[in-house]
Amino acid sequence: MTKRLQVYEGDGIVVTFDPNVCIHSAVCLRTLPTVFDVAKQRWIQVEGAEPDAIVAAVAQCPSGALQTVRLGQAKPRAAEAPTGPVEVTPRPNGPLLVRGPIRVTKENGDVVEKASCSLCRCGATGNAPFCDGSHNRIGFKSPS
Ligand code: SF4
Ligand code: FES
Repeated sequence: MTKRLQVYEGDGIVVTFDPNVCIHSAVCLRTLPTVFDVAKQRWIQVEGAEPDAIVAAVAQCPSGALQTVRLGQAKPRAAEAPTGPVEVTPRPNGPLLVRGPIRVTKENGDVVEKASCSLCRCGATGNAPFCDGSHNRIGFKSPS
């Protein structure tokens, strides 16, 4: 079942989190613990850092589960938007990390545009073609 998008609005910035594509890398928790803290009931505290720091931390999210929108800006600043070439990096025992810009056509014909995403290579995801973290559950081992 698809989980709903989480939206956290702060002063000048909105952070969104799509739990359907998070690969549980914990990069966000390590990069900016004053904002991302799973011990708190509201796990994203947008007031925990300046918007620039949040944008920089979200840019490290390998799956694209985290995104930011600057309030009052229709589009991300050029420095915040990825430019080519597209990079594809296999994560050991996990998905293919893709940093775009990317346009993905799903099996049902839906087109998704992302700055980055992680593509399943274990075959167990419930959100194809994106990784949903199921590789951990099945103990997927990537070829060495
Ligand atoms: S995939 Fe992104 S949102 Fe999920 S834990 Fe890693 S950095 Fe955080
Ligand atoms: S690689 Fe993560 S669910 Fe398949």
